[in-house]
Amino acid sequence: MAEFRLPPNSVVRTGKHYPAKGGATRSKRFQIYRWDPDSDENPRTDTFDLDLDRCGPMVLDALIKVKDEVDSSLTFRRSCREGVCGSCAMNIDGTNTLACTQSIEDIEGDVRIYPLPHSAVVKDLVPDLNQFYAQYAAIKPWMKTQTPAPPDRERLQSKEDREKLDGLYECILCACCSTSCPSYWWNPDRYLGPAALLQAYRWIVDSRDEDTGARLDFLDDSFRLYRCHTILNCTRTCPKSLNPGKAISEIRKLLLNRSI
Ligand code: SF4
Ligand code: SF4
Ligand code: FES
Repeated sequence: MAEFRLPPNSVVRTGKHYPAKGGATRSKRFQIYRWDPDSDENPRTDTFDLDLDRCGPMVLDALIKVKDEVDSSLTFRRSCREGVCGSCAMNIDGTNTLACTQSIEDIEGDVRIYPLPHSAVVKDLVPDLNQFYAQYAAIKPWMKTQTPAPPDRERLQSKEDREKLDGLYECILCACCSTSCPSYWWNPDRYLGPAALLQAYRWIVDSRDEDTGARLDFLDDSFRLYRCHTILNCTRTCPKSLNPGKAISEIRKLLLNRSI
């Protein structure tokens, strides 16, 4: 696991200001968190004024424009530009969301861009997600079976059983939910967090999986599952409109019914 790096104190300084290029007709201000733990003592926010008439419509377009035309050292993750890969998750205007699907025009005033909260920073807008991925791996996100597969076809599922996965399989593991969850902030090493728990539920309700008992045993723990206090920040922030809070309560119901 990468070294866990946090700023030595919470001071975020005001950094450089890059005015819009001459002739800008529709200027918008972007305040962007910058921190290189290898060389900067403390984080800062740099201010970039961009001409929206020469920029794509999404926040990711603005970040790419800054990197291409103003400061090539600005660091962020992105891949698909379609809201599918989950890599451009960051805190924009106070909300965890995807930069590639967040319209600039929908944000009033300056656009404030920070890395996902309560995460160690690798550089600028790139959070350290090693622990998040380890928690995902811990729920064993693959089909586990004991019976042999049919010799002549794949394991089939009824239409009704397949529909039980709707609202779960669409999760892109962007980490917006887990990094918005106060319970996860306080116990990130012991509470699995909403993303891993939604994924756990996705396998628990899959009619083809034959490891439900062991999956529930693993979750039946005061920290892994029961640190959720139903605050629902996770559901409010999910950029795919999923409901991790509901998935967590369904797991709790299954455990309750099992113990009666
Ligand atoms: S549940 Fe939503 S917010 Fe959480 S990781 Fe999945 S897609 Fe992202
Ligand atoms: S509902 Fe549970 S998982 Fe979601 S934000 Fe609240 S405490 Fe976290
Ligand atoms: S770049 Fe893939 S979700 Fe934004």
